[in-house]
Amino acid sequence: MSRIAYVNGRYRPHRDARIHVEDRGYQFADGVYEVCEVRGARIVDERRHMARLTRSLAELRIGLPMGLAALSVVLHETVRRNRVRDGIVYLQVTRGVARRDHAFPAAGTAPSVVVTARALDAAKAEKVAADGIAVVTLSDNRWARPDIKSVSLLPNILAKQAARDAGAREAWFIDANGFVTEGASSNAWIVTPEGEVVTRPVDNSILNGISRTVVLDAIAAQGLRLAERPFTVVEAKAAREAFVTAASQIVQPVVRIDGAPVGDGRPGPVATALRREFHRHAEFT
Ligand code: PDD
Repeated sequence: MSRIAYVNGRYRPHRDARIHVEDRGYQFADGVYEVCEVRGARIVDERRHMARLTRSLAELRIGLPMGLAALSVVLHETVRRNRVRDGIVYLQVTRGVARRDHAFPAAGTAPSVVVTARALDAAKAEKVAADGIAVVTLSDNRWARPDIKSVSLLPNILAKQAARDAGAREAWFIDANGFVTEGASSNAWIVTPEGEVVTRPVDNSILNGISRTVVLDAIAAQGLRLAERPFTVVEAKAAREAFVTAASQIVQPVVRIDGAPVGDGRPGPVATALRREFHRHAEFT
């Protein structure tokens, strides 16, 4: 089956889907994105993803390319045309096409919109979660606004590749004070030896993960103890459990940090239960 991509008002065969060479997303990474999970052919937490998109756009003074109702139709239509049951839908909005000049283009320049969708192998994802993943740590060399979901991802790409090169699946960024900020494409969590679930509070230094907010609800429902505070790498290595959250992987247990096992080196009960219960606390549209 051939894939379809939505590009600026048209549904195109994926192989022919094109953006202009002077699109500011291409020239400057001047744009933002969202990734939503698709489960059972429905979009997970669309409302919260669109709220975050609206915020990212506002922070960068990029106009909303169309109303949220119209955008919702495009997201669902792209999922439908690609016959995705379980996978992801990707949305990118850039400041549009204009002659290359760092300052904003003329008012009225239309933002560019791309939507793609693809299936992910659910069985494979479960296998990865059953084994747990390894992470490596490296210093957080990103700009001061990781709360904006910008397509400008060079540090994240380099960090992810460093993880791959070390046989790990994720990289955790460490701030100047030794605290974990977040993963290259996920939020970071630990469970302390006392059983407290810890994650960094949301501010400009991390992305306000939608899966993070869902997991906060699951934690409350399960009556777990929670602390939203920064934690260090040293603390993470001594934790009983660790895990990451992101739309594309929900809750993923972390079993090794920089080569050292976390807890007994197996996915722990807290991460496993949060993964199992995740979709009870998510919204489907
Ligand atoms: N990544 N932090 C970073 C840096 C991320 O890139 C992501 C998501 C998250 C988790 O956010 P959410 O729970 O809303 O997915 C945190 C997406 C999935 C990606 O880049 O593919």
